[in-house]
Formats: sequence, C-alpha cells, structure tokens
Amino acid sequence: MFGFTYFTPTKVVFGRKTEEQVGELVCREGATKVLVHFGGQSAIRSGLLSRITASLDAAGIEHKELGGVVPNPHLSKVREGIELGKEMKADFILAVGGGSVIDSAKAIAYALAEPEYDVWELFAHKRTAKGCLPVGTVLTIAAAGSEMSNSCVITNTETGEKRSYNDDIARPRFAIMNPELTTTLPDWQTESGCADIMMHTMERYFVNGGTMELTDSLAEALLRTVMHNAEILHHDPSNYDARAEVMWASSLAHNGLTGCGNDGGDFATHMLEHELGGMFDVTHGAGLAAIWGTWARYVMVDCLPRFVRYATNVMGVEAKASDEETAMAGIEAMEAFYRRIGMPTSLRELGVEPTEAQILKMAESCANACGGVKGSAKPLRCEDMAEIYRRAR
Ligand code: NZQ
Ligand code: ZN
Repeated sequence: MFGFTYFTPTKVVFGRKTEEQVGELVCREGATKVLVHFGGQSAIRSGLLSRITASLDAAGIEHKELGGVVPNPHLSKVREGIELGKEMKADFILAVGGGSVIDSAKAIAYALAEPEYDVWELFAHKRTAKGCLPVGTVLTIAAAGSEMSNSCVITNTETGEKRSYNDDIARPRFAIMNPELTTTLPDWQTESGCADIMMHTMERYFVNGGTMELTDSLAEALLRTVMHNAEILHHDPSNYDARAEVMWASSLAHNGLTGCGNDGGDFATHMLEHELGGMFDVTHGAGLAAIWGTWARYVMVDCLPRFVRYATNVMGVEAKASDEETAMAGIEAMEAFYRRIGMPTSLRELGVEPTEAQILKMAESCANACGGVKGSAKPLRCEDMAEIYRRAR
C-alpha cells in the first residue's frame, strides 16, 4: 500500500428539491456576483434554470447567465465565459449541468483568478495554476464526477485536442445533487454515465502498484451497485432509488476515495478515449465502453491477479481451470453487461471507423499528452496505443 492525500472539500447536499437551497449556499460562500453557466436546452426546458435564478434572487445575489456549453466542452465557450466574468466582476461560478458544464465553469474560474495568462496554457501543461475562483454545482447527470473531482477537461476545436488539467484548487465548494433532476436524461446519456462512473473506479483498480484491501472492497461494492442500478434504469428510467445510488456513485468513483493506497491508477483507457473525443466528438462514457474490452485483453496477462479478482468479486465469475481463463471470462461478462445496457463494445458500434492515418495521429497525440507512456496495469507506449485502436475497430 502507498501513502496518500485524500482531499474532498466539497459540501454535498443530496436529495429531492435540494436545488432550492442554492441561493443560501452561494450566500454562505460570501459570493455576491455569480456567473450561472449551463449547457444546451435541458436546464431551460425542465424549468431548473428558472428555479435556480429565483433562489439566487431571493438571496439577493446578482447573477448573469451563460448557456451553450456542449458535450466535450469547447475552449471557445470558456473564452466567452471569461469575457462575461470580467465584465460583471464575477466572484463565483455556478455550474448547472453535467461534467461538460462543470469543466467549462472550472476553466473560467481558473482564468478569472489569473486574467494575465491564457487559460489553455494549463491544459497544454505549460504552467500550473496559482488560483481559481470558487465554483459550485447543481448536478443534472451522474457521470463524470466533476462535481467533486480536481479534474477539468476541455476541447480545443482549433487543434482537435481534448486535454485535462488536474488541481485540487478547482474542487467545487458545494455539489447539489437531486437524483430527480436526472430523470429527464436520454437513456443513452444515463447509460454512458454509468459506464464512465465504473471506469473511474476501474482505472484505479487495475494497477500493478500498491493496493489496499479496504479500498478494493469499496471499489468492488461501488462497481456492483452501479451495474445493478444501471440495469434497473435501463428498464425503469424514473426509478428514484436507482437514480440516487448511481448519482452518489458518480461522486465517490472520482473524488479519490477508490484510489486511496494505490499507485495513482492506470487511466490509459481515459487517455485513449480523450483522443476519440477530440477527433470524433463521441460521448465520453460510450467511448470508454467501446475501448475497454480491447484494452483489457491487451494488458490482462501483465496484471493477471487484478483481473482474476475483478472477475470473481465484481462479475461473479466462478474460477475456471486457469487464472487466464477466469480473467477472460470476467472481461467477457463485463462486455455482456455493456451490451445489456446498450453500450458499444467496439469502435464500429460506437459509430467510428478511424483510418490507419487517424489511428496513428490519435496514438501520437495520446502518447504526447501522457509524456510518452501511460498505464499501471501495463505501461503503454505510442505503438501499443495504436494497436489498441486497431484491435478496437
Ligand atoms: O446541454 P444539455 O441540453 O444540458 O444536454 C446535456 C448533454 O447533451 C444532457 N443532459 C445533462 N443533464 C440532463 C441532460 N439532458 C436531459 N436532462 C438532464 N438532466 O446530457 C448531455 C451530456 O452532458 P455532459 O455534461 O457532456 O455529460 P457528462 O457529465 O458525461 O460530461 C462529459 C464531459 O466530462 C468530461 C468528459 O471528458 C466530457 O467532456 N470528464 C470530466 C471529468 C472531470 N472533470 O472530473 C472526468 C471524466 O473522466 C471526463 O473526462
Ligand atoms: Zn471519465
């Protein structure tokens, strides 16, 4: 087991109608001028945005709204937010939406704290942030875990790069989580969200470094819980309890809890997916599901004990004649689960058919973003990454 720092400063306010507390929560942060950031039409259509602004009005808080954040959020929208934030002298950014809106809000918050710098420098890893305006969130989709994470992922459409920047100073001050808000989600987004939640824990589980029994057991319980409730939601999308289980899992899967004591995790599948997102604008969770099985087969023998444990404790596979067979049965069971909830298990099923030139470009870009090598289950280099894209077709 490795030593670790576990830092989760986010106040979680969970349950029905909790969004009505937003004005009071922002007030307690000492904020007076709030930039309210949201996505496309969903928050307007459901009436959520009106309820949020009414709560801010009742608390006497000045606010301006900026919508239009798209999935795989764009740097250009971040720049728009920076201009508005400067103009209104915002002292707090409130994200109403999912990972894309929250990440766009975090990027605006970084930029407003250090207006003399270009914010993309953070994502290009040319410098580290010295400050970040406070961010609060009203979560509308259980998926990315950005509501409690230190991570922020932005796409630069000019270069086709989707890049992340991680820093504890961007962890949101509060996260309002009302599972009812997620009942308006299209099934595809609910299911992609479940795939992403599971991956955040699986990235921390398939390691060759240190491990810790308590962390492993928490991770396994989380994975079983998400699988069970994803299947319920596939048939009964309005089931509140299933929505609640999945929503709480989204935060715990990516706030660091399921990585305590390990070596920092693998995260190669995420890095491979980010390139697919940058080039083909795919839904993040679905992109992960499409590539995971190929990644798993590619690295399995280098991380065999973890794959055997996963097969047994998470997928409920009975021991086979050899560890390899048990591990492979676990991978197949996972892919069968993806199919049952409508997730792709190949790039073709994802709707993407990259050419050899595109594969090489993604692999090079991925290797560059990782500093040449990525992964704990099996460290991957550029040629491994290209081979995984090829086999995932
Ligand atoms: O824009 P609207 O109209 O709101 O529609 C959104 C969007 O089309 C819709 N939606 C959200 N809540 C809804 C709803 N539709 C109906 N009812 C609701 N209640 O869902 C679509 C997807 O939203 P998005 O925010 O993109 O989803 P998600 O939370 O999956 O975020 C994905 C982004 O987060 C990044 C991903 O790479 C991707 O860019 N990630 C961020 C992480 C982090 N910051 O910690 C970690 C993750 O690994 C991930 O990389
Ligand atoms: Zn993810």
